[in-house]
Amino acid sequence: MGFARTCSVALVGVEGVVVEVQADLEPGLAAFTLVGLPDKSLSESRDRVRAAIVNSGETWPQKKLTVGLSPASVPKSGSGFDLGVACAVLAANERIAPLTIADLVMIGELGLDGRVRPVRGVLPAVLAAADAGYRQVVVPERTAAEASLVPGVSVLGIRTLRQLIAILNDEAVPEETADRDEGRPDPLLAGLAVPGAGIGTGVSDRQVLPDLSDVAGQHTARRALEISAAGGHHLYLKGPPGAGKTMLAERLAGLLPRLTAQESLEVTAVHSVAGILPPGKPLVDTPPYCAPHHSATMPSIIGGGSGLPRPGAVSLAHRGVLFLDEAPEFSGRVLDAMRQPLESGHVVVARSAGVMRLPARFLLVLGCA
Ligand SMILES: Nc1ncnc2c1ncn2[C@@H]1O[C@H](COP(=O)(O)OP(=O)(O)OP(=O)(O)O)[C@@H](O)[C@H]1O
Ligand SMILES: [Mg+2]
Repeated sequence: MGFARTCSVALVGVEGVVVEVQADLEPGLAAFTLVGLPDKSLSESRDRVRAAIVNSGETWPQKKLTVGLSPASVPKSGSGFDLGVACAVLAANERIAPLTIADLVMIGELGLDGRVRPVRGVLPAVLAAADAGYRQVVVPERTAAEASLVPGVSVLGIRTLRQLIAILNDEAVPEETADRDEGRPDPLLAGLAVPGAGIGTGVSDRQVLPDLSDVAGQHTARRALEISAAGGHHLYLKGPPGAGKTMLAERLAGLLPRLTAQESLEVTAVHSVAGILPPGKPLVDTPPYCAPHHSATMPSIIGGGSGLPRPGAVSLAHRGVLFLDEAPEFSGRVLDAMRQPLESGHVVVARSAGVMRLPARFLLVLGCA
């Protein structure tokens, strides 16, 4: 009966794979089946999509509905497929012309009220779409600036499903108010040390990192820092409490050269998957600084976790500085796991769903009293 397809992107680490979202409506008992290796968070998509469509003033098809995500072999995780699934269903039900969405790549989570909510990893997803030859993407409005960093792709940022339906049907686009939590930082991420975070975040467009200008004396340590920055040498800082180890390590990132355009995209992609990009300023163009506590867990340092895996500290410090204060206090397993990124510039995390590779090329600074 009704069939429609559109595209979305599955993330494997910081690499995206374009996924075709197909919806098929057949006469029969009303049911909604989702196939194509979805994980738990994606299976919940069915309930979000149904509620969002109904609450956007559309009718839910009372038929046998099958939504397939292919290639089925790629593990899919997270809520970013919601928007693609909703549009494929609406097109199969002839509410949207199927041809208008066939070449679009859609990324976004749906709220039950039909709001389109931001997801992690929009930049790598849009990069993958561009590599695969797609020219138009639809993303949550709040991540439109991030998606626009990719050259050659036209980006449509939307606030609600209702807006998207109107745009696709050439109808008058309804005004929608901004989210109440717009711009509010994620409380879970407040403690993460990231580029210029907390220290010397400048007023100019580019982040300004602290440098050696406010370090008094310490000529040997300053020279060591400069040699480390110039030659890309790892550093070991030893000194009594209060000697300035933390202060010096924080300033190393400020001595490193600005990131090139390519490096900026790499670093921004990692931070996008980690969900720590500030809303108004998506491009990370300064070397990041990351200083995990010695009690941090293995996944938080190396990467991993359930669902859509998060990059660890070694990847958040990619192209920047990783400072391990009180280095001997870190567990032996964590220190051992540092060998791979130190040697190869990336880290491979094996999980039940497969193996993912994350960039992790950083300057290591060890601190010890
Ligand atoms: N050479 C210096 N010039 C200016 N300020 C300094 C210098 N050395 C230390 N300080 C100041 O002293 C304070 C303590 O420095 P810091 O926290 O870097 O020491 P630390 O060696 O990391 O100590 P701990 O072992 O307790 O972590 C900071 O506020 C820092 O700004
Ligand atoms: Mg310290």
